[in-house]
Amino acid sequence: MRAITVTGPGGPDVLVLAEVPDPVPGPGEVLIDVAASGVNHADLLQRQGRYPPPPGAPPYPGLECSGRIAAAGDGVTGWRAGDEVCALLAGGGYAERVAVPAAQVLPLPDGVSLRDAAALPEAACTVWSNVVSLAGLRPGETLLVHGGASGIGTLAIQLGRALGARVACTAGSQAKLDRCRQLGADLAVSYRDQDFVAAVGEFTGGRGADVILDIIGAAYLGRNIAALAPDGRLVVIGLQGGARAEIDLGALLRKRASVHATSLRARPAGQKARIVEDVREGLWPLIGAGRVRPVIEAVLPLAAAADAHRLLEAGAHVGKVLLAPDLVPR
Ligand SMILES: NC(=O)c1ccc[n+]([C@@H]2O[C@H](COP(=O)([O-])OP(=O)(O)OC[C@H]3O[C@@H](n4cnc5c(N)ncnc54)[C@H](OP(=O)(O)O)[C@@H]3O)[C@@H](O)[C@H]2O)c1
Repeated sequence: MRAITVTGPGGPDVLVLAEVPDPVPGPGEVLIDVAASGVNHADLLQRQGRYPPPPGAPPYPGLECSGRIAAAGDGVTGWRAGDEVCALLAGGGYAERVAVPAAQVLPLPDGVSLRDAAALPEAACTVWSNVVSLAGLRPGETLLVHGGASGIGTLAIQLGRALGARVACTAGSQAKLDRCRQLGADLAVSYRDQDFVAAVGEFTGGRGADVILDIIGAAYLGRNIAALAPDGRLVVIGLQGGARAEIDLGALLRKRASVHATSLRARPAGQKARIVEDVREGLWPLIGAGRVRPVIEAVLPLAAAADAHRLLEAGAHVGKVLLAPDLVPR
């Protein structure tokens, strides 16, 4: 098969399409013929050598895909060759074929095409596990989503609304702020020229956000805690603004607030299986009902993975960028 290999740490040009051995599904795994794979911020870090694949994961980038099941390993029940699916991967999505634990495979949600479904698993599992399972967002609460126009953010805004929360978000351009409002954000704050703490304070009558989904980390930690409501929950899932910062425990204590930080990729298989099950049960019906939709900026040939990375690095995209092997001229 062909896959995108990383020839060494560096810029987008280190992503090279090459012939590689076909993966073989082990016990409990299925082999998927990839229709499309999602490009994630984490793939940029992996390419730069800053986020190596976990032990046992394929060396090629790609944390999610859609496609047809080609074969099932020993002990797999519930999936058959030919089934159209999407899947959460630990790596290897930038390829024509990938092997994945059967417990990380999902059916296509109603109304979503085979190709578009590649935009869902990583954002769905990340947002559901953090905003719903961990932070316990409730109807009527306020959710603040940083980077509302990102792959993660576009799903989080829609999910927050679908769950009956009021949703605030941040983004860095007028076009992105407009798209976030169209997706259901009640408040969209330009982080470049507005203070999100003041804006969220005003929006909530001085109370603050009950749940914050943060992708910036250290640079936003103090202001995130300031923006939290009493009993608020801050969940850090990205460190684009650094990993080290001081916490004012007094501020947390007075608000009875909590700070969490999680990474999906590094979770043990059992936790991923549980998250996938929760997503299928809780989020798939919302997608089937049209209340949450995949947001896709562009679909590029697999061979153009370097261009996809340039697109993400340019930062003008809204939602997801996908790679499709069948768009590659042979
Ligand atoms: N922990 C986990 O399990 C997990 C899983 C998936 C993703 N993530 C993280 O989630 C983040 C989004 O991932 P993605 O793949 O969806 O990325 P993406 O589509 O490339 O989006 C990155 C976003 O960051 C925003 N951004 C940059 N600086 C910002 C700032 N100061 N304030 C607010 N937003 C800012 C950008 O918005 P502007 O262009 O408007 O600046 C852009 O929308 C990444 O940090 C990624 O590592 C974590």
